Order: sequence, then structure tokens, then C-alpha cells
Amino acid sequence: MVKPKRRYVCAACGSVATRWQGQCADCGEWNTLAEDVPQTVFSAKHDLSSGGRPIAFEPLESQTAMPARRSTGLAEFDRALGGGFVPGSAILMGGDPGIGKSTLLMQAAALIAQAGGDAVYISGEEAVGQIRLRAERLGLASAPVRLAAATSVRDILTTLGAMDPPALIVIDSIQTMYSDQIEGAPGTVSQVRGCAFELIRHAKESGAALVLVGHVTKDGAIAGPRVLEHMVDVVMAFEGERSHQYRILRSLKNRFGPVDEIGVFAMAGQGLEEVANPSMLFLSGREEPLAGSAVFPAMEGTRPMLVEIQALIVRLQSGATPRRAVVGWDSGRMAMLLAVLEARCGLNFSSAEVYLNVAGGYRLSDPAADLAVAAALVSALADRPLPAASVWFGEVSLAGEVRPVAHGGLRLREAAKLGFGKAFVPPGAGPEVPGMRQHEVGKLGGLVDRIVQES
Ligand code: TYD
Ligand code: MG
Repeated sequence: MVKPKRRYVCAACGSVATRWQGQCADCGEWNTLAEDVPQTVFSAKHDLSSGGRPIAFEPLESQTAMPARRSTGLAEFDRALGGGFVPGSAILMGGDPGIGKSTLLMQAAALIAQAGGDAVYISGEEAVGQIRLRAERLGLASAPVRLAAATSVRDILTTLGAMDPPALIVIDSIQTMYSDQIEGAPGTVSQVRGCAFELIRHAKESGAALVLVGHVTKDGAIAGPRVLEHMVDVVMAFEGERSHQYRILRSLKNRFGPVDEIGVFAMAGQGLEEVANPSMLFLSGREEPLAGSAVFPAMEGTRPMLVEIQALIVRLQSGATPRRAVVGWDSGRMAMLLAVLEARCGLNFSSAEVYLNVAGGYRLSDPAADLAVAAALVSALADRPLPAASVWFGEVSLAGEVRPVAHGGLRLREAAKLGFGKAFVPPGAGPEVPGMRQHEVGKLGGLVDRIVQES
């Protein structure tokens, strides 16, 4: 008998190594390699081209209608999902500990149960008493949710198999689940993958919507093998700073809907409250303008949202290596903008520490933020505030040109609605908007002169 070869799989990126190492050679993460027990060892003689049953092909066109989606009871959750749960679908929800995943899912389960659906909430992390306490705090203690504290997937599937399929099954979290068919402790790559596989199969067969809560690693990726993301239909991230009130629910992958819509919530004393009109949330509301601060009209899916970007530049006297820190934006992108400002506009950041922060714990993903970030950086460097009540958007190229971005009109209208009267925009950005004076910025160089001289 051939002795099965040992192999080790990185929990962060899924790459395979033949021996254990402290650091993954592919993604550079530490302590993520774990032994994976191979199911079969293929030999060269393996021939799969005969002996199987023929499969039947079907035409693409068919009469199958998309099964009706089921509302989560929370309009913001529905929006992020693209219109509610699709029956039989599997959703992976990631997020930092304490961000509110269990709270959000308990609220959804309770609202579905109150609306007459059957909702099952299985926790491997908390005892039933703890979950009840949370539900009480949420004012949902009387909702007919079926609660259980369990970690054995065999027990869970046996139980679910014996009852009518519920509308929603929440598994909190997949890292605590355990299958007796698989070697290894809960949370290891093979356990997470195997348990998820069985639970997802149950969801597909029964038509229940399944939500798997997933832990995230320190840099925000969902812990466990990358294959988990391939196995599910929807991957969602629940984001925010724990010290701030606001939470954003984003879908990163969605087989049944768009991925750019977000749901906005505020964590309050009684759970998560929906924020239907978030465009003002991430502004400081300060009256007089401050150096280093620029307002960016971001687009989140179909919704515009105004966000304040803050930059701080500290000149260093000594020859120490200056720090660069970015919160809420891509640090690689900031390095690029700094390089463009140095190379194309003659500014010097080399001996200065540069800090960039997106206010309110918001994380920007819209590429149109370049111009607003550049404006904040130049304003901080020159120690001059940007013009009052102004907004900035546009993408910056390596050549220092400011390029048009999508949804110019929507951004301008939202800013005008909230009392902003000036917009610095790429050439040909958008239509005329009443009450909004548009200043076209074609090159970053022009912007720098403007900030340094005029304001
Ligand atoms: P939780 O849902 O347990 O987070 P996760 O499952 O993502 O780890 O949320 C925990 C945090 O939410 C906790 O720090 C307290 C806070 N919270 C409130 O502020 N208000 C509430 O009504 C509830 C239930 C929790
Ligand atoms: Mg939790």
C-alpha cells in the first residue's frame, strides 16, 4: 500500500506545501499551515475516461423561475444581499470579533420568525442562555426562533433532516463546527471545509437559506481555506471600527445579485439600527474648514455617500525613516499618489510622516477618491484649508492627470443637496447641477497651485 503523502495547506491562502513551515511561502502569513489529510492518492494509472455513467445535457433556455427571495426583515440587509435571501443559497458572513455579526443574524432570524417563517439559530460559541440574553436586549425575546448550542455537524444535520426545512439556518460560527468523519480539531482547514460542504449540501437539498458566520484573520480575510469562499453563493463582510457606532455590510461575492450595494447600520443600545440615508454619517459637521481635510462624494452601489478624508503631515527633523499610515483606504494607492505628487508636482514628502484617515471608521473602495486624497495631502502639506463647502472627486493617473469617473451627476447632486456649493472635478465630469459651481481640474499640478496660492 502506498503511504499517503503528508501535505500542509495554508489557512489564509489555500496554497499547498509538502512540509510544515512556520511561514507560508506564498502569502507570507505566519502559523497558518496545517496538515491536510488527503482523501485519495492518485496514481498515474488512474484513468477517468471510461466506466462512468453518461450525463444528460440540457438547453440553457428553460422555464425555471428564480425562487422568490425572502426578506431578512431588515431593508439594509436585503439591499446588501441584492433583495433578500435566496432559498437554498449559502452565505458566508465574515467580520472582526465583536463587530455585531451575531447581533445582526439574531435580529434577522427573529424578524423572519415573527413574520411567520421558521428560523433556526445554532451557536457553537455561546450557550443558549447567553443568546437569550442578547435577544432580550434586542427586544426580540418573544420571537419564535429555534435556538440551539451545538457543534457536531452530524447532530445538526440529523436534527434538521427530521424537521420541515426552515426558511433560515444560522451557523455561528463555521470555525466551531466539528465533523466526526474528519480528523483534526474544529477550525482546522479540513474541518472547516468538510463541515461547510455538508451544511451547504443540506441547504441546497432542503431549500433553506444558510448563513455561516466566519472568523476573520487580523488582516481582514475570512479565516479558513479560500475554498470556503468558492463553495458559498454569497460572501459578505460586516465592517466598521468597534469604537465607532457605524457598521457597513458589504457583499464581496454574490451569485444572485450585485456586489456593490452596501447596508448601513448603527450599533445602538438595542442592537443594530438601520441607517436608510447614510450620506451625512461620515462628515464631521465642522463649520470652518481645516487644513488637511477634504470631502469626497463616494458612491456605494447606487447610493452616494459623503465622506471626510483627513491628512496629517509631520516634518521630521532627524534622518529617521518617516512613517506612513493609512486608515480606511488602500496604503498602496496612497504611496502612488505621494509619488505622483512628488514626481509631477514637485512636492516633497520624503522627510515627512504622512497619516491619512477616513473619518468615522469608514473604509473607502471607490477609486474616485484619488483627487480628494490628493487635495487633503496638499492642503495638509501647505497647511492651508481647502475652500469651504467644497467636494472633490476624480481618479489620478501616474502621469498626474485627473480622469473622469462614473456617476459624476449623482455625486454632484447629493453634495448640492447637503449644502456643498463647490466641486473640484475631472474635465467633463457631469451635468450642470443647480447650486453647484464646478471647477474642472485636468492636472494635479493645477490643483497644487490653486491650493497653495489661492485658498
Ligand atoms: P456580537 O454580535 O456579539 O459580535 P460578533 O458576533 O460579531 O462577535 O456583538 C457584540 C458587540 O455589540 C458587543 O461589543 C456589544 C455590542 N452590542 C451593542 O452595543 N448593543 C446591543 O444591543 C448588542 C446586542 C450588542
Ligand atoms: Mg458572535
